[in-house]
Amino acid sequence: MKVLVVGGGGRENALVWKLSQSSSVDKIYCIPGNAGIAELAECPAIGGALDIQDNCALAKFAEARGIDLTVVGPEAPLVNGIVDEFEARGLPIFGPRRVGAKIEGSKSFAKEIMTRYGIPTGFGQVFVGYEEAVAYMKTHELPFVVKADGLAAGKGVTVAFDEKTALRALEDCFLKLKFGSAGEKVIIEEYLEGEEVSVLAFTDGRAVLAMVPAQDYKRVFDGDEGPNTGGMGSYSPVPAVTDEIYEEIVDKILKPTIRGLANEGLEYRGVLYGGLMLTAEGPRTLEFNCRFGDPETQAILPRFEGDLARVMLAVVEGKLAGHELHWFPDKCVTVVIASGGYPTDYKKGYEIGGLEDASRMDKVQIFHAGTLFSNGKVVTAGGRVLNVSALGSDFEEARERAYEAVGRIHFEGMHYRKDIALRAVESERRGRLSVG
Ligand code: AMP
Ligand code: GLY
Repeated sequence: MKVLVVGGGGRENALVWKLSQSSSVDKIYCIPGNAGIAELAECPAIGGALDIQDNCALAKFAEARGIDLTVVGPEAPLVNGIVDEFEARGLPIFGPRRVGAKIEGSKSFAKEIMTRYGIPTGFGQVFVGYEEAVAYMKTHELPFVVKADGLAAGKGVTVAFDEKTALRALEDCFLKLKFGSAGEKVIIEEYLEGEEVSVLAFTDGRAVLAMVPAQDYKRVFDGDEGPNTGGMGSYSPVPAVTDEIYEEIVDKILKPTIRGLANEGLEYRGVLYGGLMLTAEGPRTLEFNCRFGDPETQAILPRFEGDLARVMLAVVEGKLAGHELHWFPDKCVTVVIASGGYPTDYKKGYEIGGLEDASRMDKVQIFHAGTLFSNGKVVTAGGRVLNVSALGSDFEEARERAYEAVGRIHFEGMHYRKDIALRAVESERRGRLSVG
């Protein structure tokens, strides 16, 4: 089978890597890909000729190459209707249609679904005008969370502990139009406290197969300091997610959401990603994403045992019932190596050294995020540059291995967090239960 993966980050490198191990997969293309992906897949668009937002061009590519399965990494093409375009041409594609992708593309839509079907989440109100939102804010107690409705590249959510911050967030959306049409609607949501966790599930619209839990690190500096990023590291499983909590997440959040979407006439296929807060009252949904998480996927897939292409094809064909997921018991720790200055200003084009030395390590997998080949060398080409994933029989071992590999890699200005999975090591030491 010929597979096309759409996207070019660490998540897509992990997907390509796992798919390349499927016995049913003969050839992989990736658009646009990166220097790491190019070792496993043909990347015809490196350098930029094919735009991943151009549904028609991608569908024509898939037709011309006889692609049997297309897998979409990022949310933007899904929200942009890539699945609808491929389906209209009879091309098998993994991911929800445009209407299903709204679960990520519109936070008010997600909130509506959650409210209608009794999915545990924080209380939230939707506003379409600045004055009403301010009036609500003035009559309700802080802290609360202000969320732009649409896709805002991870920048549309503000946790406001004081009135000034909340007002600024509302101004950004309604008056300064900082997020364009994504900020035309705003949700003001109750502030929830607890540990955050991501649980992703495969679904064909009926059957729901949840993956092992993962946790990501959003802030750029150790100790969760500094601005939010696309993710600075992750690990799986999550010690805080006991068997009981995991069951609650699957039975009260993921399955009822898929049932609810089906009831609305939306047959949601692909991955449903639940971003959850483990509160004292139980797990609550912060958001849904319509795709694999980045960098959660880089910590989840190394633990995946089996044929990923088969599972994905079963999703596409609506035949997921009867399938099972299997996982290696090893723990996985993923450290993101970023360009100095990320997520604001950073330079690109630095040569990356030590990659071969690091890749030689047992139980270590290096996934490229922002890299390119230039004059026969691998150079930095983005904010997040590499993801180093390592397995171990416990978190301590996985973590040590990951950081040893990171230590072998070097480029000018490289930055990474030194506390990834430390929380997991500590709770492992405390001997708490974990699943997965
Ligand atoms: P979201 O895009 O909705 O996941 O929000 C991004 C981040 O904002 C989350 O990962 C949380 O850290 C934080 N967040 C979102 N909603 C809430 C909430 N209701 N209470 C506390 N923090 C939240
Ligand atoms: N790791 C968060 C996300 O993929 O949205």
